[in-house]
Amino acid sequence: MGGGRPLTLKLTLSLSLITCFLLSSSYGQNCAKHSFPNNRVFKTCSDLPVLNSFLHFNYDTSSSKLEIAYRHSGIGSSRWVAWAINPTSTGMVGSQALVAYQQTNGTMRVYTSPITQYQTQLQEGELSFNVSDLSASYENDEIIIFATLGLSNNGTMLNQVWQEGGLNGNIPQMHVTSGANVQSMGTLNLVSGEAGTSNGGGSKLKKRNIHGVLNTVSWGILMPMGAIIARYLKVFKSADPAWFYLHVLCQFSAYVVGVAGWGTGLKLGSESVGIQFDAHRTIGIILFSLGTLQVFALLVRPKPEHKYRLYWNIYHHLVGYTVIILSVINIFKGFDILEPEKKWKHAYIGVIVALASSAVLLEAYTWFVAIRRKRSESEGKLPYGGVNGGEGNGVYGHGVRTQQA
Ligand SMILES: *[C@@H]1O[C@H](CO)[C@@H](O)[C@H](O)[C@H]1NC(C)=O
Ligand SMILES: *[C@@H]1O[C@H](CO)[C@@H](O)[C@H](O)[C@H]1NC(C)=O
Ligand SMILES: *[C@@H]1O[C@H](CO)[C@@H](O)[C@H](O)[C@H]1NC(C)=O
Repeated sequence: MGGGRPLTLKLTLSLSLITCFLLSSSYGQNCAKHSFPNNRVFKTCSDLPVLNSFLHFNYDTSSSKLEIAYRHSGIGSSRWVAWAINPTSTGMVGSQALVAYQQTNGTMRVYTSPITQYQTQLQEGELSFNVSDLSASYENDEIIIFATLGLSNNGTMLNQVWQEGGLNGNIPQMHVTSGANVQSMGTLNLVSGEAGTSNGGGSKLKKRNIHGVLNTVSWGILMPMGAIIARYLKVFKSADPAWFYLHVLCQFSAYVVGVAGWGTGLKLGSESVGIQFDAHRTIGIILFSLGTLQVFALLVRPKPEHKYRLYWNIYHHLVGYTVIILSVINIFKGFDILEPEKKWKHAYIGVIVALASSAVLLEAYTWFVAIRRKRSESEGKLPYGGVNGGEGNGVYGHGVRTQQA
């Protein structure tokens, strides 16, 4: 092939690029450039992955004393910030938090708050470890919390959680429960300063992504495609009865994948006690019910000649279109909750637009065919009515079938 050399070269290049990237992301920390007033120096620092946050600290292994400065940049004056250690688990509940915000009269309030449940107003309270030298500052849209924590000697890995939210007067309000605000947790290595994703946060994010992908593909792409196949493939003579099996195959696989996605959603819901996405959840449950109805409706569908078949068709189409509309709505609600990178939402919008425009084009083409056949029918006095007993319905169905007979 002679392509060996360039390929090796490319591989080496990309490997070194990746290495450079990894090195720069773990060692070229932005936080290292920060200097604190009064020549305060922190030996170790870590750029936290979300919410414009940085943790600077000195850790004394012999006394287990942890001296920290938590910086939260780009924060408005009527917002609170918090940084916490969770000695018992990985999430928010059980966190031992340091909270700071600017009060309406301009002075800073900084205090400790143990978090026992999701519905918290961040009330002041004692933490499970000693906290001293607690102070906070607000300058240039940045809040810094300073503190010294007396940790019991529990090893060098900690679970950390950080957060920000709005204030009502001087009262902290619930933080946003989506996007970066639910990813702001992870591990902290007290020796290396490395901030990792804790299993809790990481696997939850993974589960959410799986849930999103399964549901977008099934309810959001396969189902509308199946509907398009049913409605428009019928027009092509050669596609009968293939369109029917394609439609059933498409919708049935969409349903199976969709139920899997729905299951992951229920699991996620049961795991995030206290955080509820009511509309998303309700629409999800309605979708599952309607989808199941559609599958069973197939089994009780009357024969094409049956006098009730018309009503069955109307019912089947009504439920089908409702499912598609609700699915698209719920997928966008999901995007708002998960807040993935913009490109995913854009890609999905692209798919929806492509599906919708092909539906419009096919609709126009179908009418064109139907009208032309009607005309040739009335001229040629062809017998009216379908013979092959497909799933025909609607204005053009019969006309198309007639030609086929
Ligand atoms: C150390 O571990 C004990 C028991 O596992 C726990 O109760 C305590 O809160 C931990 N302390 C810190 C600072 O993590
Ligand atoms: C600012 O308001 C807080 C809470 O209302 C109060 O405790 C504090 O004394 C006030 N400080 C000044 C300087 O007015
Ligand atoms: C907290 O500090 C006090 C006084 O400095 C000390 O007596 C106490 O043992 C400390 N508690 C813990 C849990 O380290």
